[in-house]
Formats: sequence, C-alpha cells, structure tokens
Amino acid sequence: LTDIKELYRKRENFIGTEVTVGGWVRSNRDSKSFGFLVINDGTFFETLQVVYGDGLSNFEEICKINVGAALIVRGTIVETPNAKQPFEMQAAEVTVEGTSAADYPLQKKRHTFEYLRTISHLRPRTNTFQAVFRVRSLIAYAIHSFFMERGFVYVHTPLITGSDCEGAGEMFQVTTLDLNNIPKNGDGEVDFAQDFFGKPTNLTVSGQLNVETYAFAFKNVYTFGPTFRAENSNTTRHAAEFWMIEPEMAFADLKDDMMLAEAMLKYIIRYVLENAPEEMAFFNQFVDKGLLERLKHVVDSDFAHVTYTEAVEILEKHNDAFDYKVSWGCDLQTEHERYLTEEVFKRPVFVTDYPKEIKAFYMKLNEDGRTVAAMDCLVPGIGEIIGGSQREDKLELLEQRMEELNLPKEDYGFYLDLRRYGSVRHAGFGLGFERCVMYLTGMSNIRDVVPFPRTVKNCEL
Ligand code: 4AD
Ligand code: MG
Repeated sequence: LTDIKELYRKRENFIGTEVTVGGWVRSNRDSKSFGFLVINDGTFFETLQVVYGDGLSNFEEICKINVGAALIVRGTIVETPNAKQPFEMQAAEVTVEGTSAADYPLQKKRHTFEYLRTISHLRPRTNTFQAVFRVRSLIAYAIHSFFMERGFVYVHTPLITGSDCEGAGEMFQVTTLDLNNIPKNGDGEVDFAQDFFGKPTNLTVSGQLNVETYAFAFKNVYTFGPTFRAENSNTTRHAAEFWMIEPEMAFADLKDDMMLAEAMLKYIIRYVLENAPEEMAFFNQFVDKGLLERLKHVVDSDFAHVTYTEAVEILEKHNDAFDYKVSWGCDLQTEHERYLTEEVFKRPVFVTDYPKEIKAFYMKLNEDGRTVAAMDCLVPGIGEIIGGSQREDKLELLEQRMEELNLPKEDYGFYLDLRRYGSVRHAGFGLGFERCVMYLTGMSNIRDVVPFPRTVKNCEL
C-alpha cells in the first residue's frame, strides 16, 4: 500500500501511475454514473479523493458505502489543477474491507471538541486529532533525541512506590486488600502486612527521587514516563494521569538546570516545526492563529528570568486584576503565571527562588534561609510548564527539613543515603509532557492532547 503522505510529498513521481491505498472513508457522494470517495489513511491529515464510475463491477455497492468504512482502492493518480486538492485517483478497483454502520458518529461536519471527547476511541480519525497525536508522538521522539544527543542515560523509574516525592499527599493508593473486607490488626488499624507489598504503596507522582539516585552513578540521566496525581483540580491543564520528563544532573546547579530547560524547549520547537510543517500550519490556521509566529519568536530569543520576590512586587501592583490577591509567601496561581508571561515578559520566563514553605522538601535552601533554589518555567497560554530545582545535598539540612514537615524518614532511607555516600550539588526539573503538547499545538484543554484522558470523575474507555 502507498501512504497518502507519500502521494502528497512526492506527488510528481506518482502522476499517471497506478497505486493502491488503504484507508477510511470520510465522505462518499455519487450521481448517476460516477461518484467521489474521500479517504484518509492516517499517514497524513490530508485526504485522497477517489473517483469511481459505473464501469466498476461493484458500482452499486460502492455507492452505498458509509462514512467510516475501511477500503482498499487501486487506481491511477491524475492531476486536478482546478480542484481544491492537487490530485485525485481514478479508481480501477474498490474493495470494501469493513463496512460502517449508518450511525457512525463522525459525519462530515465540524464537531465540537467537547463532543469528540465523548468518543475518544474515534476522534483520532478527525483532522485535528490526527495532527495532535502525530505531533505528540514527534515531541516524545524529539525529547529522547535531545537527551540522547547529550549523553543522558534514560532511566525507567518505578510507577509503584512507597514514598511521596512532592509531599503533597495527592496519591492514588495501590493495594491488593479487599476493600469490602479490609483486614484489621490488633489495634483496629488496616493490616498492611496482608497487602501484596506488606506496606502501603501508591502510584508515583514523580520519578525524581529514584532518578536522582542514578544521577549519582551516571551524572546525567532522565526519566520519561507516566505519573499520577489524585489532586482534585478540575481545570484545563490538570490530568490525574500525565507524562513527565525529568532530567537530573550531578555537578550542576540551578543555572545549569535552567540552561538545560531552555535548550530543551527550543530543541523541541525547532524539531516539530521542521518535521511536522503541515500539522503546524494546520494548528496555526484552525486552532491558534498566532502560534507559528509565537513559537518562532521563542526559538530566536532568550527566556526571561525573575525571582519570586521580584515577581510578587510586579504582581502586587496589579492585584485589582486578579481574583486571588498576591502577597509574598503565597503560591502563584495560573492567573498570575499567565499575567507574568503574557503581559509582562511576553515570552517564556523562569521564576526562581520561591519561599521554602510553598515548595517541596528536597529543594536546596538558599543563603537567606527562607527561599529555596527552585525554578518554574512559565509560558504564554499555559502558565507553569516546567518545575525544577537544585536539590538539597547536605544530609543535616535535608533531615531537618523532613522533620519540619513530618516526613517519615524510614520511607526515604535510600534518598538520605545519597547524601551520605558521595553527595554533590545536583539539579533537575520536570516537564509536563501534556502541557508541552498544548504549548506546541495551541490546543487549550489537556483533555484534547491525551489519547484517553483521566481527569476528575472521568475514566472512560
Ligand atoms: O512542578 P511539579 O510538581 O514538579 C515535580 O514533580 C518535580 N519532582 C520535578 C522535578 O524536579 N524532577 O511537576 C512538574 C511539571 C509541572 O510543571 C507541570 O508541567 C506538570 O509537571 N504537571 C502536570 N501536568 C498535568 N496534570 C497535572 N496534574 C500536573 N501536575 C504537574
Ligand atoms: Mg510545580
């Protein structure tokens, strides 16, 4: 079978030749003695128009083909200088591989993203989602290339864990205990001794703690996998299951961390602009009009830098505009993040040195004793896309912080060991993969960049 993408990319070679294409019907209309099928084969979001005539032995059958059916068509490619599409196929043979029922939910009209979310098993057959999920796949590849080219080792961190990396308690528990008959011990507490692992476990919220251990062996490493958060945030940028890219570098500080993050984002943008030009033009036309210009500008300019304290000073002047008023010590909300990156800096910005109270236990305490060496990267349209930090590498300071936060040291023995055996300054970050896909495609809801989204009260398919 020939890919429709090949037909478009190398069309001169195909004019006047016979090819065979397999795909799904987008539309079918016939008049008395001939008809037009439009098919898409998933290799490209453009379609192939197939003209069929009553000379074909199964002409009657072809006329009755419904949208959604799977076909194999053989025929000659001819130029169509006056039509919308540059060429079409004159069919010599149309074979119906799988018919489609008349109630196929994707008829030839514009469906809303909301509606398409209810049929997430069929929406990849639409133009928009073809483009989204092809670009999602390319971004994943670009990320691996970026790190591999720089000699980073890809580490597969576990999904089931006994610790809570972010310390926010937003975890899905994993258990083999029978919820209808929970075993209790002598004290009337849940008897985890009877559980598969013999202790409470959960799905990971971040691979960072594990990947840090490998940074102290390989120097530069990264993990790229699913993470899970049971946070009750029903927004357009939170999912309960999402993918995260987490590099970790030994012998590196916060500056190195930000340089890596900036280089990575620029690499991804360049890669996608170069390797998915048709999809990106499509997004620019139908999803987000300023997308291409904005992304090209990002590649060509330096990211802005501002400390949390400076950011708060800027934001406080505009408190009238915010639902949630800003003052030093408060966590920045999406409205503040977007204000900074969209109105103040008009490009991606790193906010650094947050108060320790609003950041995770593992971040390195700054000399002022009240802020930590943290950085969030904010981008227009989304807000936080990356969260990272230099890690506390001093055993006493880390233990002290864990005590302040009542974290059970026995669950973090391996992590403390790192500070006992060859500790060194190190830093890393987490890039939210879905937010990255949103940023590059202009899609505004995280549910539309995940094949099968898991969000609050939603786990269909
Ligand atoms: O800022 P976060 O929570 O950082 C960490 O998990 C660190 N352990 C990373 C590290 O230093 N290795 O999450 C990192 C990124 C966020 O910036 C955001 O892009 C994304 O993960 N993220 C989510 N994406 C979708 N849905 C959610 N519920 C998300 N929570 C975080
Ligand atoms: Mg964060």
